[in-house]
Amino acid sequence: MTETAAPPRANSKKLFIRTYGCQMNVYDSDRMTDALLPHGYEPTTEIGEADLVLLNTCHIREKASEKVFSELGRLKELQAERRSQGHDVMIGVAGCVAQAEGEEIARRAPVVDLVFGPQAYHKLPQMLEQAQGRRHLPDALKRAVVDTDFPEEDKFTKLPAARKDVTIARGLTAFLTVQEGCDKFCSFCVVPYTRGAETSRPLEQVLAEARNLVAAGVKELTLLGQNVNAYHGLDGNGRSVGLGELAYRLAEIEGLERLRYTTSHPRDMDDALIAAHRDLPLLMPYLHLPVQSGSDRILKAMNRRHTADEYLRLIERIKDARPDMALSGDFIVGFPGETDQDFEDTLAVIREVGYASAYSFKYSPRPGTPGASLTEQVPEEVKNERLQRLQALVVQQTQAFNASMVGRTLPVLIERVGRQAGQVGGRSPYLQAVHLEGSPDLIGAIHQVEIIGTSTNSLVGRLPVAQAA
Ligand code: SAH
Ligand code: SF4
Ligand code: F3S
Repeated sequence: MTETAAPPRANSKKLFIRTYGCQMNVYDSDRMTDALLPHGYEPTTEIGEADLVLLNTCHIREKASEKVFSELGRLKELQAERRSQGHDVMIGVAGCVAQAEGEEIARRAPVVDLVFGPQAYHKLPQMLEQAQGRRHLPDALKRAVVDTDFPEEDKFTKLPAARKDVTIARGLTAFLTVQEGCDKFCSFCVVPYTRGAETSRPLEQVLAEARNLVAAGVKELTLLGQNVNAYHGLDGNGRSVGLGELAYRLAEIEGLERLRYTTSHPRDMDDALIAAHRDLPLLMPYLHLPVQSGSDRILKAMNRRHTADEYLRLIERIKDARPDMALSGDFIVGFPGETDQDFEDTLAVIREVGYASAYSFKYSPRPGTPGASLTEQVPEEVKNERLQRLQALVVQQTQAFNASMVGRTLPVLIERVGRQAGQVGGRSPYLQAVHLEGSPDLIGAIHQVEIIGTSTNSLVGRLPVAQAA
């Protein structure tokens, strides 16, 4: 990696990326920025001054997907305004909606210059050049540049490494995609179609990126994958390495203090990964392990290929290895055919597990997925009611979990100044936000913090008396 901290060029263009969806899109947006920096684009947080606006989109539920089109309507106005001031703005749609809808986006929204899926990000500079070449054509002849191929080549070897100064500016925690795509085909989900088949990055490639991040000052890495624990990267000898072994290898990197990963599938939680939780103190005791439903009938219809009981037994094994493991989950209510009893079974699983946090969604039929053509769709009112009940239970659990921290002293990675003057903020091992009074000098390291209270979504802490004095 070249570490030239080049100053912004005088003729630099401004890039604005709006990111929707999951953490992988956050990671990808940064990689798109990294790919464009050498081509004279500097990131901006002001959409009004952008020369290029990219929407990095999410297709997971209908609402997420429709947001893109309302945003494109607003961008059309922005473009007209910029043009009236003698500037112009190019518009690109990336991410999972782009992958799923391709040409259709350009047809529905002619303002769009570029449409490209997640496997094309390394080609962004060339695509932009191509789109630029088409700009002076009369409107009737202008077509968007569209790339939704799944190429054979490895985009990760083509994407430039992040510049050191850019990594530093992004903060002390970083995402690192190690695995992409999904072969599970849960019957509700678009991801296998938008992200393609499961692939894992080679071990050395992951280690090299991790070392670069840590050398720039990153203290905490979150490994990403749609099925991150299905990771099976090849080592230098062509041997397949699982996520557990990857964790041991990452633990050898000096200066890396915390390691997390998301999202895991229960079927891929193997013994090696569970053992890593027992052995590696840097592997944080917080696991996002979605179950979606607590009813075996619905789990089967969802094609999750495990039962509720298998999930509960798995959690027992994980807790045997790491007794303080906090759990998080995803739930879908109102999958086609879900009865009151099925829903009660889901609540029962939630009660048994006791989550530190959980995300829950109303089932949204997605085009092209098997679930969408099932006949017994659940009425919207029923979904609403179930979602409310489920969320009320989860809120109680999260509050109880947070309250159980009061009086304890937790290691907190202090990451930033707080919202209020004189405060700093960071995260506990269990991913809880923690705020405390303290000097900005604390930022950048893990400090022992005494938890003295909770607020809605965070913990309130203070430095132990000896240190505060
Ligand atoms: N790869 C992850 C999840 C990706 S999507 C996993 O396997 O767990 C994130 C969450 O969105 C899912 O866990 C699921 O709860 C929810 N989700 C996915 N498709 C959905 C749909 N069609 N309707 C409602 N929620 C959905
Ligand atoms: Fe979607 Fe299921 Fe794959 Fe997760 S495991 S990405 S929910 S198909
Ligand atoms: Fe959304 Fe694509 Fe992530 S559909 S959740 S952005 S993988």
